[in-house]
Amino acid sequence: MKALVIGGNGFIGTALVDQLIGRGIKVRVFDRYPSRYKEPVDGVEYLIGDFANHGEVSQAVQGVDWVFHLAYTTLPETSNEDPVYDVRSNVIDTIQLLQECCNAGVDKFVFVSSGGTIYGVPQCVPIKEEHPTEPICSYGITKLTIEKYLHLFHHTKKLEYSVARIANPYGERQNPNSKQGAVGVFLGCIARKQPITVFGDGEIVRDFIYIYDAADALIACADYVASEKGPRVFNIGSGVGYSLNQIVDTIRNVVDVEVKVNHTPARQVDVKSNVLDIELARKLLKWEPKVDLETGIKRAWDWTKSLSLV
Ligand SMILES: NC(=O)c1ccc[n+]([C@@H]2O[C@H](COP(=O)([O-])OP(=O)(O)OC[C@H]3O[C@@H](n4cnc5c(N)ncnc54)[C@H](O)[C@@H]3O)[C@@H](O)[C@H]2O)c1
Repeated sequence: MKALVIGGNGFIGTALVDQLIGRGIKVRVFDRYPSRYKEPVDGVEYLIGDFANHGEVSQAVQGVDWVFHLAYTTLPETSNEDPVYDVRSNVIDTIQLLQECCNAGVDKFVFVSSGGTIYGVPQCVPIKEEHPTEPICSYGITKLTIEKYLHLFHHTKKLEYSVARIANPYGERQNPNSKQGAVGVFLGCIARKQPITVFGDGEIVRDFIYIYDAADALIACADYVASEKGPRVFNIGSGVGYSLNQIVDTIRNVVDVEVKVNHTPARQVDVKSNVLDIELARKLLKWEPKVDLETGIKRAWDWTKSLSLV
């Protein structure tokens, strides 16, 4: 068994590679950069390339059973600034990738979609997979569009696929300098002895999932054999909502330094509450999250401290 992880040197990708190797699965990583935070793993084949380069992608998909597609060029917060770029660099290049996977006879394609943006403003929480999808950012629209193309490629070319609509992952190797990922950014500020910035009153609620639980879910998605009409799209979260204020309180319990908080105006892109219903994944993927919030934040903090941020 061999897996290709496109975007395998990023936050979710490096955890996924660890879990695949731990299960004795051979791994090839395709990414445009080496990992910033992790040494190459023994036995893993690393290809540096851009998934916009069709020749490189065509070579990368040869001889693999599973393809995990994690590379993405945009973020929810910034995608509305240039939707044309979002569509060109994600939708079009992913369609090309799907064609290459069909040509290479790939057994299973796993796409990492977004539980946080696909649904838009939730009509109810927790959100089930069949909840209406009305994204309020381009990133959510392109993720949804790719899900629809997967359905098309399954229908026309029998490509087997699963979609993981991941909530808010946190944990080791979450970029503390990113524009997304509250836990990682907060811990980065604390490590630098800077105040945390919370948008709005801190009462927006999110579903936070520990990174290795999310990685295990992706493997369960690859393993899952769908019946012809069975579901292929799964919410992957903890199923539990925490406000940003509760996250800050949990961080305070974990870290051994003072935590200062500044509040700035709320952002337009942030919906008030997003918590995923994960019953379908529990039932069909036989997966469930194992690591509670405080334990996960402790591991993330230990890792963040090891960076010696200034
Ligand atoms: N982190 C989150 O909060 C979150 C939540 C839900 C879904 N996702 C999705 O999960 C996936 C992985 O996210 P992440 O947090 O690990 O991001 P990340 O930025 O840490 O990793 C993405 C990796 O993809 C690589 N990449 C980007 N564009 C590429 C290209 N054109 N060619 C080759 N490699 C390229 C990057 O170099 C990086 O190593 C993305 O699709 C993202 O949209 C992330």
